[in-house]
Formats: sequence, structure tokens, C-alpha cells
Amino acid sequence: ELGGYPHYMLKEIFDQPEAIRNAMRGRLDLEEATAKLGGLNMNPHQLLRIQRIVIVGCGTARHAGIVGEYLIESLAHLPVEVDYASEFRYRNAPLDGETVVFAVSQSGETADTLAAVREAKRKGMRVLGICNQVGSTIARETEGGVYMHAGPEIGVAATKSFTSQVLVFLLLAVLLGRLRYLSARQGKKLIEAIEKLPDQVTSVLSRHKEIRAIAEKYADAEAMLFLGRQFQYGIALEGALKMKEITYIRAEGHPAAELKHGVIALVDERIPSIFLCPQDGVYDKNVSNIAEVKARRGPVIAIASEGDDRIGKLADDVFLIPQCSELLAPILTVVPLQLLAYYTALSLGRDIDKPRNLAKSVTVE
Ligand code: F6R
Repeated sequence: ELGGYPHYMLKEIFDQPEAIRNAMRGRLDLEEATAKLGGLNMNPHQLLRIQRIVIVGCGTARHAGIVGEYLIESLAHLPVEVDYASEFRYRNAPLDGETVVFAVSQSGETADTLAAVREAKRKGMRVLGICNQVGSTIARETEGGVYMHAGPEIGVAATKSFTSQVLVFLLLAVLLGRLRYLSARQGKKLIEAIEKLPDQVTSVLSRHKEIRAIAEKYADAEAMLFLGRQFQYGIALEGALKMKEITYIRAEGHPAAELKHGVIALVDERIPSIFLCPQDGVYDKNVSNIAEVKARRGPVIAIASEGDDRIGKLADDVFLIPQCSELLAPILTVVPLQLLAYYTALSLGRDIDKPRNLAKSVTVE
């Protein structure tokens, strides 16, 4: 079952090219320059009437929702809000009939997410699911949705389900965008770029040894900071969650600009900062944040894009991802962070597939 891998987590990290290929299979329509998501059970007329989207989930699933928020807003210009399922269910959030709620859950059994689904349904909302487990409770109780098709995920730390969720949000953003502001030319360009993702993930994975060396160098860190902006903000949160879940190192994820609003007080030579700074619209802003951290003697690990000739002079360690649109970069930048958590846990001798105090599926509230 492990196929020669020492842990499920590593196997599932390496499953990702296949998992995202499965998530996009049959759903890309190059001719019409759009995505096809028949499981939503909504016709174009109904999709066009959506005025607002609310995304609910827990842990990693919520982080995928945050990336989804930026994707949908930028491609479809629709207001999106992401909430912890556990908060949403007790909040009295004003919702109306033009709002669609998406519940994101790998297992489809998370108690808080299920409760949020039921509360939104009670309020008369159309609730759709983004689930991995076919026939799970959330998949059954929603009016429709999108299956991730990531295959079974056994490791407690979610990996391939995250990249599949982000891919599903990308497809959703293309679909909703093409009904609104996205031209056929732009849609086609995006679809061609999405088709390249599995091979690009494979190329990132083939360089796992570079990440292993970085992980071994920083494994005794007291704490770690994960920083990213815009499309990379959710990835900063996810990188920190992976690190704390399986290594027990205190790790925090923040929007990079929040550094100067308090977080930078933590920086010293024992606390590395991991910056997500691929080539995108906020690259220069990230570079100034890196300089601020370096000025306080904080070690910097940068996840940047191939061809970046500035970052090497600033950061202590650099891992380069293939060049791609900033919309697609989250799927590539999260992979080195999963590997960083994995190899750090390995060098600390942690129980990687069964970290302390955690369960794969949280069916209690
Ligand atoms: C993180 C992790 C958890 C889950 C969360 C939601 O690695 O595994 O944070 O993401 O418990 O689980 P699902 O997606 O099954 O609803």
C-alpha cells in the first residue's frame, strides 16, 4: 500500500501530480475555454445569478478556501468570504438567496463542517460540497458539488487533498469567470496553464533533496514564521499548520505585511522565516519584508520562481519553483512546504503519519 515509501505522508505528497490530474480530468473544455463542473447541478443561468460565495471548512480545507477566495474574486469578481465552519455555524451571518455556500472537506465527515452545512441549509441557502470521500455525509447532504478524486488520504497531515481542493477552486473560478468577465482568450490561456501543472509538480518533487537539506539545517529551530501575500497567504497558513502538526515546532503563518504590525518582534537568529515570494504582483513588497527580517538577523528561506536573480542575494536558502501564472503558483509553492514539514519531522524522529493528539477525521465538535 505504501508503494515503497516510508510514510503515507510522503507517498501522498508524491501522489500529487496524479491527484491533480484526476481532479481536472474531463473538466477542462479548451474549445469553450472554460471548466465543466456538472456535479454542481446548476445551469449557467443559475450560476450567473450567484451574487456572493461563502466558503466553510476546518484546518487545511479552510486554507484551500482562502486560496479559492482570491482566485474567485480575481477571475469572477464575486465577493467571497471564508469562515471556520465552527464559527459560521454559531454566527448569525446575514445571508440571502443569491449566496451559495461551499463546504470543503476531505473526509466529508467533519462534525463542525457538517453542522455548518445543516445551519446554512436551514437558512434556505444552496449548499454545495467539495469533498474527497465519495458518498460521505457532507457529499450526501449537499445539493451538489465537486469531488476532488484525490484518492484515499491516510496520513493525518492533509497534503494531496489540499492541492486537489485548490485545483477545484481554480476550475470553479474559471467557470464563474467565463460567465462574467473572463474572455475566451484568457480562459484558454488559463486552461493551457492548468494542464501543465501536474508536470510542474513532478519537477518540484524531483528536487526533494534540496528541501531535505534545508529541513535538516533548521530542524532545531525554536519556532518558524511562514509569510505570504495574496494568492500565497493561504499557503503561508497551510505551511505553518503542516509544520506544527507533525514536528510540534511552533509555527505561525501570516500575511507578510503583518510583520511590522507585531510579528517581527519574534524575529531573531533562532527563528527562521519562510517567505513565499514567487514572481507575482506583490514580489517587490515581499522583497522589502525579507530585507526587514534580515536586518534583524532572522534566517530567511525563500520559495521563489526560476529565473529570479535577486532573491539569492537576500535569502539564506532558496527553493525555486517553475515559472507560472500567480493564480497557479499556490499549487507549486505548497509542495516544498509539505516536504519541509516532512523532512523536519523525519530528522526530529516524530511519528509522521500519526502525530500526537490528532485524528484524521474529527467527528466530534
Ligand atoms: C491538517 C488536517 C486537518 C483537516 C481538518 C478538516 O493537516 O488534516 O486540519 O484538514 O480536520 O478535515 P476534513 O477536510 O476532512 O473536513
